[in-house]
Amino acid sequence: MSAVKRIGILTSGGDAPGMNAAIRAVTRSAIFNEMSVKGIYRGYKGLITGEIEDFKTQNVSNIIQRGGTILKTARCDEFKTPEGRKQAYDRLIEQDIDALVAIGGDGTLTGARIFAQEFNYPIVGLPGTIDNDLFGTDVTIGYDTALNTILECVDKIRDTASSHDRLFFIEVMGRDAGFLALNGAIASGAEAAIIPEISMETDQLADMIDNGLRKTKNSSIVLVAESEVTGGAMGVAERVKKEYPEFDVRVSILGHLQRGGSPSAQDRILATRMGIAAIEALLDDQRNVMIGIQNEEIVYVPFAKAIKNDKPINRDLLKVLRISSI
Ligand code: F6P
Repeated sequence: MSAVKRIGILTSGGDAPGMNAAIRAVTRSAIFNEMSVKGIYRGYKGLITGEIEDFKTQNVSNIIQRGGTILKTARCDEFKTPEGRKQAYDRLIEQDIDALVAIGGDGTLTGARIFAQEFNYPIVGLPGTIDNDLFGTDVTIGYDTALNTILECVDKIRDTASSHDRLFFIEVMGRDAGFLALNGAIASGAEAAIIPEISMETDQLADMIDNGLRKTKNSSIVLVAESEVTGGAMGVAERVKKEYPEFDVRVSILGHLQRGGSPSAQDRILATRMGIAAIEALLDDQRNVMIGIQNEEIVYVPFAKAIKNDKPINRDLLKVLRISSI
């Protein structure tokens, strides 16, 4: 019998499609295993201020298909301070919550790691971010949906790009990680991707032009990962205007629409599997781990590994994009 009788669940940081599916699975799996559940609103912020509610199985009905997070989310500066974390701990004790399931990205898990160590408190993390930048998991909840949203947008931009024979730089999210840009480029049939992971190694813009960009086509689409390192789509376009004035260049920044929408089947299944695994991890006396998925198997990844290691991009994909876009 596990020592955990009551869990708290929260979503924190940037929302991601599939977070609701994860909340649903965690809640139902906890209840299935005779635990009670408290929903904590607005991430660590609501934990500090006590925005907490009992969750029954009905609280999570009819949400698997919804984007965003019914628990709301926030980026919380107080939780970065020892005083804020102490307040959060006092709330957990006051509410009789024995363990926490925290769903979010790098910032969420970094907070979870510090808190868990400071108070010797059990936390299990679920990787919820469109960026896919957590080490130890092949994919994160929300990534697949965001990728599909990007494809929908790029397909539309292609219509106008080809009508006008233009070169489009489309900026996608990723917070210094190029997974959305690189895989988005392969899947949308874009000509190239400019990503932070290789920005220091090579001049991606010059390579792209040298490789014969538009030798066989009149219009082109290039996905650019948002990042100071890449300069973003604006930065790259400015450079093209100066160095290659023969191109008719336009920029499109996809922005937060990439975070919205109903989660894909893949994200719903992933979130549901991971949510159930989070409760199994607690029953198994695991603590301070993130649930990951590797080759279709659920794995436990210590927080320290998930957040500290820069998840590498698969370099084979660079070649795949290069060959498939000639
Ligand atoms: O981490 C998810 C993400 O959407 C990043 O891709 C992006 O850089 C960031 O969040 C944007 O954050 P905010 O919604 O706070 O502007």
